[in-house]
Amino acid sequence: MKTRITELFGIEHPIIQGGMHFVGLAELASAVSNAGGLGIITGLTQGTPEKLADEIARCREMADKPFGVNMTFLPAVRPPDYPGLFKVIVESGVEVVETAGNNPSQWLPMLKEAGIKVIHKCTSVRHALKAQRIGCDAVSVDGFECGGHPGEDDVPNFILLPRAAEELEIPFVSSGGMADGRSLVASLAMGAEGMNMGTRFIATKEAPVHENVKQALVAASELDTRLIMRPLRNTERVLTNAGVERLLEKERALGSELKFEDIIPEVAGIYPKVMQEGDVDAGAWSCGMVAGLIHDVPTVKELVDRIMSEADSIITQRLASIQAS
Ligand SMILES: Cc1cc2nc3c(=O)[nH]c(=O)nc-3n(C[C@H](O)[C@H](O)[C@H](O)COP(=O)(O)O)c2cc1C
Repeated sequence: MKTRITELFGIEHPIIQGGMHFVGLAELASAVSNAGGLGIITGLTQGTPEKLADEIARCREMADKPFGVNMTFLPAVRPPDYPGLFKVIVESGVEVVETAGNNPSQWLPMLKEAGIKVIHKCTSVRHALKAQRIGCDAVSVDGFECGGHPGEDDVPNFILLPRAAEELEIPFVSSGGMADGRSLVASLAMGAEGMNMGTRFIATKEAPVHENVKQALVAASELDTRLIMRPLRNTERVLTNAGVERLLEKERALGSELKFEDIIPEVAGIYPKVMQEGDVDAGAWSCGMVAGLIHDVPTVKELVDRIMSEADSIITQRLASIQAS
């Protein structure tokens, strides 16, 4: 399949693996890139420039295709060394940077000068237009369904994607709720040039996370996510569990008085416990509604090949036969 996104990034299939804290390590990013998509290492999981340089080198050893690094700008207890991390990205010859969470304009000149393509992930048309205006090469349009931070507008992809297509000139991919060939064809129909997946890629053989996490996704339905931190205007979609329900109870009880400090036990330091130790009930971790469409744990290549062949048969058989009738 050839789209403006495959051309821009020099990839075979228009499928991107979004940055994921404690999931987007070299194992997954290289598997996605080797399968013909665009794999992405999550910069902040590494924490320091030295560790990020090592992770990029590890990915380079495992992948002979382009891959990217995600850089997320979100409120943090301890702000990361952004200048050091971006320096490493530029020096290590990474092909693509996925930015998210806030306006990346400060970093664009150095990335552009190094010939790095920038795809900015955002949850509204106005932020996508801003990304276009400041010189991003592409955007990932993240609908309300998405795992992680859907923003505060709550516009699902059936509206958000066509709206993005109405306004944008740069290419964009759909993000949030994407799982299979149907997602890809629907995204293309709504004007996207490909799709970005987070949650679906966690339930793959190569995802370097505990088996309990993969099985939790297979077991979950589309009803099992919750929105947390809405009162703090830092909304996150997570898989429900006892810790999440406790957190929501605090939100209800404290109302507008809620402060980040009140929920630290349920949100801080949770990712290593979940992803590495397999304690899926440790607290809040991002998960999309798309969990309802996850029924197995294939290899990344099996997943990507299946998506592409399903998309092909929808276009050439199902849609063609509807059109012919
Ligand atoms: C466990 C998990 C961790 C994530 N961590 C990040 C992150 O650190 N930075 C980021 O930009 N997006 C992060 N995301 C969002 C994904 O990159 C992607 O935009 C989102 O998962 C798309 O929605 P989907 O899960 O429905 O596919 C995360 C998502 C998940 C499920």
